[in-house]
Parts: sequence; C-alpha cells; structure tokens
Amino acid sequence: MRLAVLLAIFGLLASGVQSKSADEWITTIWDHFKEAVDCSSCQILLSGLKLVADLGEPALVDVLTGVCNLSGAEDHDVCSGVIEKEAPAVHYMLKNLKLGSRTAETLCASIAGLCDYPAVQPFNLTFPSPKPATTRPPPSGKSPIKVVHFSDTHVDLSYETGANSQCTKPICCRAYTEKDAPGNTSSPCGPWGHPKCDPPLRLHESMLAAIADLHPAFSIYTGDVVSHDVWLVTESEVLQDFNATYGAMEKNLGVVYAAVGNHDAAPLNLFPSNKLPSTFNPQWAYDAIAADWKTLTGLPSVYTARQHGSYSAMHPNSKLRIISYNSVFYYKYNFHMYTEPMDPDPDNQLAWLIDELQAAESADQRVWLISHIPSGNSDTFRDHSHALDQVVRRYEATIAALFFGHTHTDLFQVAYTDYAHRRWDTSAAVGYIVPSMTPTSGPASFRVYEIDPVTFGVLDYTQYIANISSFSSSGHDDAAAAAAAVPQWMPYYAAKADYGSKLSPPIHDPAVELTPAFWHNVTVAMERDPDVFQQFWSRRTRGYNVTTCAGDCVPREICALRGADAQYNCAAPTGGFSFSKRDQQKNGEAGLVPGVSSECDHAGMAPLLGKMVYRARLGVMHE
Ligand SMILES: *[C@@H]1O[C@H](CO)[C@@H](O)[C@H](O)[C@H]1NC(C)=O
Ligand SMILES: *[C@@H]1O[C@H](CO)[C@@H](O)[C@H](O)[C@H]1NC(C)=O
Ligand SMILES: *[C@@H]1O[C@H](CO)[C@@H](O)[C@H](O)[C@H]1NC(C)=O
Ligand SMILES: *[C@@H]1O[C@H](CO)[C@@H](O)[C@H](O)[C@H]1NC(C)=O
Ligand SMILES: *[C@@H]1O[C@H](CO)[C@@H](O)[C@H](O)[C@H]1NC(C)=O
Ligand SMILES: *[C@@H]1O[C@H](CO)[C@@H](O)[C@H](O)[C@H]1NC(C)=O
Ligand SMILES: *[C@@H]1O[C@H](CO)[C@@H](O)[C@H](O)[C@H]1NC(C)=O
Repeated sequence: MRLAVLLAIFGLLASGVQSKSADEWITTIWDHFKEAVDCSSCQILLSGLKLVADLGEPALVDVLTGVCNLSGAEDHDVCSGVIEKEAPAVHYMLKNLKLGSRTAETLCASIAGLCDYPAVQPFNLTFPSPKPATTRPPPSGKSPIKVVHFSDTHVDLSYETGANSQCTKPICCRAYTEKDAPGNTSSPCGPWGHPKCDPPLRLHESMLAAIADLHPAFSIYTGDVVSHDVWLVTESEVLQDFNATYGAMEKNLGVVYAAVGNHDAAPLNLFPSNKLPSTFNPQWAYDAIAADWKTLTGLPSVYTARQHGSYSAMHPNSKLRIISYNSVFYYKYNFHMYTEPMDPDPDNQLAWLIDELQAAESADQRVWLISHIPSGNSDTFRDHSHALDQVVRRYEATIAALFFGHTHTDLFQVAYTDYAHRRWDTSAAVGYIVPSMTPTSGPASFRVYEIDPVTFGVLDYTQYIANISSFSSSGHDDAAAAAAAVPQWMPYYAAKADYGSKLSPPIHDPAVELTPAFWHNVTVAMERDPDVFQQFWSRRTRGYNVTTCAGDCVPREICALRGADAQYNCAAPTGGFSFSKRDQQKNGEAGLVPGVSSECDHAGMAPLLGKMVYRARLGVMHE
C-alpha cells in the first residue's frame, strides 16, 4: 500500500474512532466519497467503512443511510430500504476485507470504477481428457424446430393502471403517495406497461399467449422474475412473484428450461458460495425455484441434481443436454464473493460444469449452456469469465450455443481460441443475449429460434416485440381506449435476413447454421459498413431512446461483442456510474458519465454506492 494511504488510515485511527458519533462518521465518510478519485483514495474510503463496520451492523446502516441521504442519490426510503436489506452481507464483507488486497482492488474496480481491474489470475482447471480434434457437426438438413427464448420478465404484481408514471422512485406505476394514485396524476400508466415501470402480469400473460400461438417445441427463460422495487422486496414478495410468473408459464407453455437471475431472491444479488456461513444462503429461493422448474420441465432430476440454482438435464428423446448454471456466483454486485481470497470456484460449479460437458462429449451429445448473466459481460468477475471461457473453448465442438439475458438489451458474444487473433477461423462459440420482457429499456420482447432437430445448432432467429410505448403514456381519458388496444406481438428483425444479407458473401440459405464464424463475420460487416453497426445499435433497445454511438464508441462496442473472455471486452472499470480515468483526463468534468444500463441502475446496494460516489464527485466539481 502507498505511504499516503497508510498515513491517511493512521490519521483516521488517531482521530478517535470510538468517540465519533454517527453524525461525525457520516461527515467523515461523505468526505471520503468526495475525495474518491483513484485507487488509493478508494482504499481510504474502504478503511473508513471498515472502522464503521467495527462499530456494528446498526452503525454501518446509520452511516451509509446518512451518506445516501446527503448524496440525494435516491429518496430516503429507497436509501434506507436498500441499505438495510444488504447490510448483513456488506458488514460481513467489510469485517473480513484486507485493505490493499487484490479483493479490495477488485471491489474498487467493479463497484466504484476507481481501481483498474487486477490482471486475470488463471485458475487451475483440470480437464479429464485433452481437447479432441472434432469440430461442430454440420447441419442435418432435417426440418427445423422452433424454440422460444425470453428473459427478464420482472413482473410487478403491485402495478396499477392509472398510477403516476413520473414518480421519484426507481420504478413507477405504483401508488407510492396520494399524488401517485390513479386519478391524482396527469401522467397515468396505461394498462399494459410503461418504460419507467416493470410490467403488469397481464403483459407477461399476453406474451405467453403469443408464444403459445407459435407452437414452440420448448422454451428457455434466462431469469429475473422479481421486479425492481429492490428497497421493498421481501421473501414473501419473491415467492408470490415466482408463483405468478412461473404459474403463468406452466398454464400457457409446454416445457420451459430456466435459469436463476440475480433478482430471484431477497435481498437480491447475494448468493454466497458454500464456503460462507450457511445462514447467508437463500435456500428458500433455490427450493421454490427448483420446484417450479421441476413442473416446467417434467424432470425430477432438475430438482434433485444440485442445490443452488443449477442443473443438467437431457431434453427427452434427443441428444440435447441443457446445462443451466448459476451466474450470480460470478456477479460483481454479489458482496458475498469479496472474500479473502476470492473463491475461484464457488459451490464447485466450474468443476461440475466440466464433468457435465465431459459426459456430454463422451456420449456424443450436444449442449446448450443457459444462464442469466453473460459470461463475457463486465458484470462478471474477470477471473471467472476467463475460467468459463476456457471451459467453453475446451468443449467448443460439443456446445451448440450459449443463451443469456440480464442486460435487457439485444447483444451477442463471440469466444475465440486465440484472442490475439480474433478472426472467423479462430471463433469458437457464440452466446445469444436476448432483450427483456420488461419494457424499461425498449419494447417488450421475445425471440424465436429455428433449431436443427439433430445438432441443435441455431439456423436463424426472429426477434418479436410489442410496442406498448405508443399507447402507454396517453392521458387518463384514453385509458379505456388503451385497455381495448391489446399488445400486438410483431416480428421486429431476423438474423439471416437482416445480418446474413450483409455478409460477403451474403448468407440466406435457411439450412445454414449461424455459427460462431457467422457472428464474427457480422462484426466484420459492422466495421466495414457503418449502417450495419447503427442497425445493431438501434436493435439493442428495439429502437427505443437510441443514443449516439460514434467515434471511439463504435470499435469499443464491436470489441465487446468479441469479448466472451471479459478481459478482452474493452470495457473500462465502471461503478454504478462510471468515470474512467481516460475520459476524466481528456474531458475534465464531462468525464463523469452515467455509464449504466437500466438493469444495473436499480440492482441494489452496489450500484447505489457507485451512484453515491458519483454524486459526491459531481458536487466537488461544482463547488
Ligand atoms: C435521512 O433523511 C430522512 C428524511 O430527510 C430522515 O428522516 C432520516 O433520519 C435521515 N437518515 C439519516 C440516517 O440521516
Ligand atoms: C492443478 O490441479 C491438479 C489436480 O488437482 C494438481 O495435480 C496440480 O498440481 C495443480 N497445479 C497447480 C499449479 O496448482
Ligand atoms: C387523491 O388525492 C386526494 C387529495 O390529495 C386524496 O384525498 C385521495 O385519497 C387521493 N386518492 C388516492 C386514491 O389516494
Ligand atoms: C401458487 O399458489 C397457489 C396457492 O396459493 C398454489 O395452489 C399454486 O400451486 C402455486 N403455483 C405455483 C406455480 O407455485
Ligand atoms: C414504437 O412506437 C413509438 C411511438 O409510436 C415509435 O416512435 C417507435 O418508432 C416504435 N418503435 C418500433 C420499434 O416500432
Ligand atoms: C466469414 O468470412 C470469411 C472471410 O471473408 C469467409 O471465408 C467465411 O466463409 C465466412 N464464414 C461465414 C460463416 O460467413
Ligand atoms: C435515454 O437515455 C439517456 C442516456 O442513457 C438517459 O439519460 C435517459 O433518461 C433516457 N430516456 C428515457 C426516456 O428513458
């Protein structure tokens, strides 16, 4: 640790830790937030928080809530709700954190964007056999089957038609106050949803009915059942949400293979590895979800195979093995992972993944990996992203594709056998990242894949959307008219027609697989033709609130698509709000960029802390 940091920490200790009142601590910590400009000052901030944690969990809650109040990051009830719920995990983490350690640096990089990410430390993964010379099988030529993929439903059972859509909370369309109540607001929510709100159950049911009309062979759901009222969510709300959302799937759809999302417990995000005290384990959530999954798949093994939100199951009468793993173990907002040292393999899930993939390879099966958080996204710890990527590369001939959600936006990620030479002929795997059903970052959406019934390779897909934004913000008098206007689920774009056609040579043949090389070539088409990039950029949010991406933004975003191993995805460390050092130097004040997706913005205490740092810094700049 640098001398300046040691002196600052010594100063803190000498200033009479025990005698400081909560108010004094609030001022001290708020000052640390204001001074948090780099990795060293982040260590000072952590040392202050550790001293507060030493005074006990209630003191930590008081001080953090006070600082949150001062920052104006959220309404007081949101501040205190979020902080109280996650305080036990944060308290435990701070008590055990070693200042200046790699874990502390990772924390400062991932949550506040103040340190660089430490260089990746490869884990010692053991593969039972060397990588075979086999390659992915060619398409069988048999007629394709349809498989539907949807994600991030976030249904809000407290949604009220007519409630205020312009409230001061993270999500609206709830009667938080008298002014927000139906009849008392000039910006009422329509019956089907609003971009500032998580959707009512009826939108989910409408989507499921549209999916059922397409008669898919089966569906996949990549998680996040619970709504974004993160400061209020209780165990009982989570269970009611599971019941409503999974219950509607059971009623409307045939077989659904699902994955656990970071919102699928209360508090959210906090899924500890089995090496932590079991009191932290949300076993009640795992058990409830597994019971729903058992019904949805008809496979008892889904319930019994593993305890913590993962399973491996054979799709009946086929050679397809579905492996659903719990990505929240590798999530940067999961405070339980910031142990000393960080657990390379929480719950031995990676070892289990290798076993399952090896079994599939030996039996000449095909594998789909389904999970919530994309393994190459910056939300995944870089060490774990690298490990997952090594596993995927080892079994590239067996893995037909990977399927994710979480970002709420329409993306994909390509893995390579050689990241120094990212080319079509080094591409090894593709991960499909589907946009959300919740309409907070674009129209509600689901995807229909055309699948080879033998190889389970993806031959094409069509993205569907329901554009509810066109009638959800109308005046109260129009509510009856809007109620009659049931959402129309329409094809939005298709992979081969809209991307395959842009390749050289173009690919139209319905029998050709969308291989990793196809998707690499799509990124090449984006580099060659700015229109192809801009179409992708707009499709991310289904045409909603499309921000400008020009200059450096274009190669950075293309790099992210080529970054299934997160250390190569070109993302600078960001917190709840980002301020990369490069941007600060170049642009001064303009370097403070609210760099969050709408998902991360309301994903609990970690982004809230990031936002508090951001507000503190913003205040300093304006002083
Ligand atoms: C935060 O502000 C609210 C209302 O302004 C107040 O009631 C509460 O006591 C404050 N909390 C702390 C810890 O300062
Ligand atoms: C990696 O794990 C294997 C098997 O457990 C062990 O034999 C080997 O010594 C380990 N290597 C390192 C560098 O830890
Ligand atoms: C609407 O506001 C009025 C007065 O402010 C209040 O009396 C009434 O209860 C509110 N309506 C609802 C449904 O809360
Ligand atoms: C939902 O709850 C009802 C009773 O409260 C129960 O009968 C039903 O089985 C539950 N459904 C699911 C999917 O959990
Ligand atoms: C959705 O509707 C809005 C308002 O009518 C319109 O501006 C937007 O282009 C539509 N989006 C799509 C993808 O059709
Ligand atoms: C990708 O592009 C390369 C070079 O342009 C070409 O040789 C290859 O056939 C293409 N592959 C696919 C799947 O489009
Ligand atoms: C549109 O995006 C910008 C930048 O991400 C954001 O600040 C703004 O709130 C968004 N507008 C809406 C209506 O969602």
